[in-house]
Order: sequence, then C-alpha cells, then structure tokens
Amino acid sequence: MLKKIHINDLQIGMYVEKVDRSWIEIPFFKKHIRSLQQVEKLREYHVEVLYVDTEKGDWVESAPSSGQCPVREAKTEPGPVEGTKTGEIPSIFDAEEIRVARALQQQAVECVQGVYRNIAEEESPDLEAAEEVVGRMIHHITHHPNVLFTLSKLQDFDEYTFMHCVNVSTFSLIIGKALHYTQNELKKLGVGALFHDVGKTRVDKKILNKPGKLDAGELMVIRKHPIFSVELLREVPGMRMESMRVVLEHHERISGGGYPRGLKGKEISPFGQIAAIADVYDAMTTDRVYQKKLLPYAAVSRIYRMTKENFDPGLVERFIARIGVYPVGTVVVLSSGEIGVVTEIHRDHLLSPIVLIFVDPAGNRIETPDRIDLLHDHHNRKIEQVIHPEEAGISLEVLVNST
Ligand SMILES: [Fe+2]
Repeated sequence: MLKKIHINDLQIGMYVEKVDRSWIEIPFFKKHIRSLQQVEKLREYHVEVLYVDTEKGDWVESAPSSGQCPVREAKTEPGPVEGTKTGEIPSIFDAEEIRVARALQQQAVECVQGVYRNIAEEESPDLEAAEEVVGRMIHHITHHPNVLFTLSKLQDFDEYTFMHCVNVSTFSLIIGKALHYTQNELKKLGVGALFHDVGKTRVDKKILNKPGKLDAGELMVIRKHPIFSVELLREVPGMRMESMRVVLEHHERISGGGYPRGLKGKEISPFGQIAAIADVYDAMTTDRVYQKKLLPYAAVSRIYRMTKENFDPGLVERFIARIGVYPVGTVVVLSSGEIGVVTEIHRDHLLSPIVLIFVDPAGNRIETPDRIDLLHDHHNRKIEQVIHPEEAGISLEVLVNST
C-alpha cells in the first residue's frame, strides 16, 4: 500500500515509490532509503511529498510532520504504565559482560583522573596508561559493541568531567570501528578523546558551571580551552599529532562556525570531526546545570538535524548505524500497545530492532518477558513511540543489572 508522507517524516529504511517531482530531476536516486545522505539529497532537490510503499522496506506509521528528522519524537506526557510492579525483567546483557565493562569504565575514569592530577601538579601525564586503557576499550567494543555504550549513561561517578572524557573516547572508538580504522589509528583517536578537555582545568569553574547564558568575555575564555589543552599536552613525550588534532579540533564545525580556529570542511581532520560528534552526543545525553538530558534516541534525532551545518553526514550516518535509531536500552511502545526495551539492533534495518517485551497491551507486567525480532515479526508490530524507562515503571539500571 502506498502512504503519502511529508519529507520531514521520511525515515531510514522506508521504501519510496514516488515523489512530487520527476525522477529525471533527481539523479542517482535510490528508492530504498538507507542513509541520511539520501534524505538530504531529496531535500536538496526540493522534494516535499513522497509516497512510501508500506510493504517494502521498514514502514513505520508516521505522526503528522513536526520536525526535520527521520526519527520519531516521543509524546511528551504518556503517563505512567499501570500494573508494572511485578515480573522479573532479565538483564539485556550478560552479567559477566557488564562486570568487565564496569571495571573497564572505572579504570578509564581513574586514568583520566590521574591525567588531571598530573596536569595540576605540573607532571607529565602517563600516556602509556592511557594507551593501555584505550586498547582494552577497543577490545571490548569489538566483542561487545553495545555494552560500554549503554553503560556510558549509567554514571556512577560524581565528577562529570572524567566520565565525559571516557564517554567521548568510547563514542569516538565506536565511529572509528565503523570506519574500519586500524588498531593503531583507533589508539590515537581514543587517547586524543580521553585527553580532549584537559584545557578546561585552566578555565574558572564558575564559568564552566554557570547555569545561565555566558557573556562575551566568558565565551571567549571557554573557547580557548582546546588551545589550553594543546599547550598542556604539547610536551608530553610520545603524544601523537593525530591525538593532538582531536584535542584541538573537537569544537570545530564543518560550516566554519566552530572554535578555536573556525576551520571548514576538510580543514578539520577526520579524528577532530569524529570527536566533535562524540562530544556533542555525550553533552546532549547528560544532565548539566544548564540543560536537561535527552534520551539517546532524541539526541540521535537532534544530531541528525544539526548535521548539515556542523558534521560530516557520512560520519553521523556511521555513528547512527552503529548505535541505532533506537539505541540498546531504549524503552519503546509498540503498535500492539506492548512495551519493551531494545536489546539488539539490525544495522541494515535500524527501525526494526530486537525488543524484550515486558508489559502487555493491557498495561500489565508480563511474568516471563518475551524477546521479539521486529524484523521478522509475524504480527508485523512496529515501534510507535519512545518513552522514559521511568514511565514504564523501571530504570535502565534494572534493565542492565537484573538477572
Ligand atoms: Fe571541549
């Protein structure tokens, strides 16, 4: 069946049968939407109305067009689910995987703390220790691609700065893996990301944690932190140029609107561009004094909307293809009314992940949660909405830790 949709509701995975322009006017167009570039291309050619074949590709019932992104927005106040007090939900990960990942995260945070301590005491940071941690992170991401990513949002650590550095390193490595970087390249990328914000130690904490808008003077100081970082790390023996570019360029933007140098496009190194996406994603999904955190899927959506002016679309696409439109741990309401948590994604079918159903259509907690693969679901269930885990009467901690 053909469904008429607006370009703002076009999502990766959909199959476009026809559009409101002649195909001849849109060169190299492919009907199956598999990338953000394809969506952007259609926008470039001023396509507004599309007809999507619901029997081909991944069709998701679209809400009326409201944004400029291929990801569905959550309803703002779905209200708590009733009858969700009983029933055990199994962990979405293996207990041993979680134990190893938590220990690794702890080691990485301590490593960053050590770097900051060294800087404060005017000692040279322990580059070897950082390389060792990054090597372990690469190994873990290679074998358990979703665990460190999901745990990154269960922050048990008081100090945001250290966890942020570890998370930016984790997300950068996820993108680097997607680009098939060598172990050596990944190490340079991961170490640079781990050290990327050390220059903030030279910025007054009152400015860093100011809840309101920064004035021009404060903004000027904060925009110098990549340069401060480079000054602090320049003399570290063994520090690679590629890692330094992560440090210097993680706030540059492809349109030239970033800082400290206002570089454009390819003037920014690939490592710098990767770290920029990782940095923004972590900032968006973390509670700060000046902002409320977004759910991972909403951050993915916002980053997509920001891509044209800020990031390389190919890199954003690799990131989304790895973490998913609905990242692991996302709590979703299905077209059947059931509620579940995403436990795995299909990289070629991002809108149809594997979901563990724990609330039935009547709103009751299911005694034995049921794992279903939306890609091969006989009932053709689709994701209708994303909700906060609390709205389903659970927490992400429970989903990751319970047995
Ligand atoms: Fe920064």
